[in-house]
Amino acid sequence: MGFHTFDPDQVDRLRGSDRFRFCSREELLEPLPRGSDAAIVDLGSGIGFYTDELAPFVGRIHALDLQPAMHEHYRERGVPDNVVLETGAADALPFKDDALQGAVSTMTFHESTTEPAMSELARVLGTGAPAVVVDWSRDGRGEAGPPLDERFDAARAREFFEEAGFEIRLASERSETFRIVARR
Ligand SMILES: C[S@@+](CC[C@H](N)C(=O)[O-])C[C@H]1O[C@@H](n2cnc3c(N)ncnc32)[C@H](O)[C@@H]1O
Repeated sequence: MGFHTFDPDQVDRLRGSDRFRFCSREELLEPLPRGSDAAIVDLGSGIGFYTDELAPFVGRIHALDLQPAMHEHYRERGVPDNVVLETGAADALPFKDDALQGAVSTMTFHESTTEPAMSELARVLGTGAPAVVVDWSRDGRGEAGPPLDERFDAARAREFFEEAGFEIRLASERSETFRIVARR
């Protein structure tokens, strides 16, 4: 956990439709609330590649990232009107208790996850709110993404959610990534 933080000089790796090979818009959207009343957070939003994909379906997305340089890249690309850029850490979220109706995190769980970060996520999500995580798996082939020894697998990710009091709806391994859907 917290092995490293993504190097902003490598942002070209966060662009391009080949990313949908490992995580699609549809699998992120499926568990999330939709419509103008839904406010969600994208934890570790980077340059907003997936934030942009989800923005048309919800009222507001808070794009949270530790590194202002990532938000700068996002601003250069153009930030949708209903996306709010937040600079901050996953273990000190800038939201009130029960403030959000959902959370999403792509390819970031291995960088951002600690027990305090899981408690924070539980604090800011309302009861029943979904969290969906897709990240590189330690159980993967290692053909793309960070080194295997920097990753979690679905079983470990599941434990993080369970220890923070979430109900697990789905925990699956694929060829290179895992997906967790949990409910607060
Ligand atoms: C590999 S990038 C993925 C970005 C984006 N989710 C995507 O799929 O395109 C990981 C991002 O998480 C951010 N990050 C890492 N640790 C974090 C933490 N503890 N809190 C918030 N953001 C964090 C990094 O700055 C980086 O922008």
